[in-house]
Amino acid sequence: MGPQTQLAESNADMELNPDSATTTEGLAEKVIAGGGESPKQILVVDDERPIRLLLQKILEANGYLCRTAENASDARNLLDEFTSDLVLCDINMPGESGLDFIRFVLKAYPDTAAIMVSAIGDPHLAESMLELGVYDYIIKPMDRNGILISVANAFRRRELEMANRSYRRNLEQMVDERTDSLQRSMSKLENAMNGIVRAIAHTVETRDPYTAGHQRRVADLAAAIAQEVGFDRDQIEAVRVAAIIHDLGKISVPAEILSKPSRLTANEFNLIKEHPQVGYDIVKDIEFPWDVSTMVYQHHEKLDGSGYPLGAAGDEILPESRVLTVADVVEAMASHRPYRPGLGVDVALGEIDKNKGKFYDPELARACISLFKSGRFSFD
Ligand SMILES: [Fe+2]
Repeated sequence: MGPQTQLAESNADMELNPDSATTTEGLAEKVIAGGGESPKQILVVDDERPIRLLLQKILEANGYLCRTAENASDARNLLDEFTSDLVLCDINMPGESGLDFIRFVLKAYPDTAAIMVSAIGDPHLAESMLELGVYDYIIKPMDRNGILISVANAFRRRELEMANRSYRRNLEQMVDERTDSLQRSMSKLENAMNGIVRAIAHTVETRDPYTAGHQRRVADLAAAIAQEVGFDRDQIEAVRVAAIIHDLGKISVPAEILSKPSRLTANEFNLIKEHPQVGYDIVKDIEFPWDVSTMVYQHHEKLDGSGYPLGAAGDEILPESRVLTVADVVEAMASHRPYRPGLGVDVALGEIDKNKGKFYDPELARACISLFKSGRFSFD
């Protein structure tokens, strides 16, 4: 007796005696019937007509909406018009195999559940189908109760998986929205920080019009040098921000000293020399993402320890501070000062070339000279 005949006979028995359902069968039907939701739609794909009709009959008798197809090609066409919550599919069919068709369905319709039907009880085949995402593997001959329970279980699992997917999508959307909001806040904070830094720079330069623009030009050159020697983006930004406010401490120096058109006395120069310390004291409590206060503090230190305010030497001076020193000296010498005209870029570059390795970090000095000589940098 072939599987088809067995099923047909079993079906005949059910048809002849529809009220012969056992207690278990009744339970399965109750579970499946659901609570007034729109009927679930099931597509049955099987090349054997009696099986198609039997499955359709059993499923429709239990409140499902059912359509049938005799091969994968017809089934694909049906899927366009019949939204299938579940596909019950035979494995061995002429043309495209049931397995290939189900692989397509699960990929193209992720919310559709699948149950395979086969006359062959192959455990390896069953395992590979389950791995593919098929919910169950029914072996012919099938009994009505087994089919209904398998279908009910498939729908229960599908609902859980859909709820899980929806939860995950909501979660991902929430994370995306929070990330966007966080990035917007970060961007606002960054803009605010840059605005405050520019305001500080402007305040200093308002008192010292002769050096107006000095800090910005030092910042441009310092950032270019930092980039030239391969500082990372974060370090370059640190150098730029520190440079823009490096002379902040000059706010404590009387304006008449800052703009004095003649040579400074020793006392006046000592007052000027306090500006790195004053600048440090002002910014040290600001929680910049970088050690800006130390950069401000060290911008007049020299490699051999002959600078001020501490006379720090060598590695005691941050690489970022050394960049500031080179950029500061070049800009200051090249530009006009109250007590002398601008000396020009060539003289400034001559100074750092002559004293590289002594006062100035040699690599930074070479990078600075190269930037000007190659025309890749100029003061605007
Ligand atoms: Fe300075």
